[in-house]
Amino acid sequence: MAIKKKISNPRIDKAGVISKIQDVLERVRDLPTLPIVAQEVQRVIHDSKSSMSDLVKVIERDVALSARILRIANSAFYGVPRKVDNLKMALVIIGMDEVNNLVTTVSIMRLFPDGSMNGSFDVPKFWKHSAICAELSVGLYEGLRQPRPSSTFIASLLHDIGKLLLVQYFNDYFIKCLRLAVKEGLSLAESEVEIMGIDHGHVGSWLTKRWNLPDEINEAIAQHHIRPADSPRFGLATVIDWSDRLYYLMEGYSIEKVIEILQNDPEWISWKSEAGYSTERLIRMLHYRIARSINMISILM
Ligand SMILES: [Fe+2]
Ligand SMILES: [Fe+2]
Repeated sequence: MAIKKKISNPRIDKAGVISKIQDVLERVRDLPTLPIVAQEVQRVIHDSKSSMSDLVKVIERDVALSARILRIANSAFYGVPRKVDNLKMALVIIGMDEVNNLVTTVSIMRLFPDGSMNGSFDVPKFWKHSAICAELSVGLYEGLRQPRPSSTFIASLLHDIGKLLLVQYFNDYFIKCLRLAVKEGLSLAESEVEIMGIDHGHVGSWLTKRWNLPDEINEAIAQHHIRPADSPRFGLATVIDWSDRLYYLMEGYSIEKVIEILQNDPEWISWKSEAGYSTERLIRMLHYRIARSINMISILM
């Protein structure tokens, strides 16, 4: 998304702010690390030789996580007539992909639990947004009939992680950015660039680089709001950007209204063009995915 408005504040030394942020993040000792279980799940996903038993081994080491996976397999959503009491059966019922995503979500949510943040920041709402955007990105690739990068879910889940860093370590700047966004009618990313010279996407990518996540993920997180004009049309950063926008549209309007808005939005029309499902079918499918995702999150949290 391009920066729409230009307002400049000569009193702010943006280069100074950027190096200050980078400096602080490099020196902070208690920066969260990517949970082992999430790292292991990523390894299993990317290893074509790994099987369901490998995934079971990773999950069963974590008792709380295993209990949650079983709880989901036993939920009304899957309607299994008898009690699911072992992980292997749960994995068959829920599906490998889905379990990978659930494990990644739960383990990353634990990094910043509710109450660990500055009181003004709504952590459960943040994770709901992140988890639904991850679901929307996967659904968008499916509905657009485009090949889906294997990092789609985790990159989308972590797309706004920079906001958490800003709230935790640079709360004064973050609050200034929020205020400017409201006052000037800017997006948060625009006001962040205005005040700090950098947006939360780039801040988040510093953390994921430190976690040694693949460049594909770091780049998508960095560029999910602001990216070069020659970015690939269905690249991960662009898909995450659309997931983010669709999240707010679908949260604010009825499904019929969302379809109507998109069918009249030149940016959506030119991006989606003739790819995959019709807008109506795509949005109805995404709507279903969101409902399912909310159901899962309510069991997980
Ligand atoms: Fe964002
Ligand atoms: Fe977002």
